Amino acid sequence: MSGNHTFTIIKPCAVKSGYIGAILADIQKGGFEISAMKYVQMTQAQAEAFYSVHKERPFYGELVQFMISGPVVVAILKHGNAVEEYRKLIGATNPAQAAEGTIRKKYAKGVQENAVHGSDSDENAAVESNFFFSQCERF
Ligand code: RTP
Ligand code: MG
Repeated sequence: MSGNHTFTIIKPCAVKSGYIGAILADIQKGGFEISAMKYVQMTQAQAEAFYSVHKERPFYGELVQFMISGPVVVAILKHGNAVEEYRKLIGATNPAQAAEGTIRKKYAKGVQENAVHGSDSDENAAVESNFFFSQCERF
């Protein structure tokens, strides 16, 4: 059975553009409940560890630098079939391919500066949530 939680990051590009409020409103209009949330500036070591699944990919170094270029909002979201439903709400990685009305279509600047992160599996949602939140920080 699919899990009821996913993990998201509002990335530095969207924070700098003043989109935190609009993105959280879209998340709540999409029927997601916030289980946990905080505003953090990742260190290089944290970003490298968070994205270690991508360490062999050509964009890894640039991605880490981008993700530490400013503060981000990290959150755990609750919804039935959360991982898949949230990836529908955010749209394709490349905003040029993202469906109309999706968060990336509305707020992303490009394939790297794509406004938000969404977990790609229940297993990664749990790993990513545990990376940022302790048990007493989620509801
Ligand atoms: P995310 O993990 O952030 O939700 O995005 P995703 O699953 O849609 O995409 P993924 O393949 O996991 O890539 C992670 C993030 O790396 C950046 N990226 N840059 N320069 C490039 O070609 C490239 N491709 C991906 C994006 O910020 C992407 O979200
Ligand atoms: Mg991904």
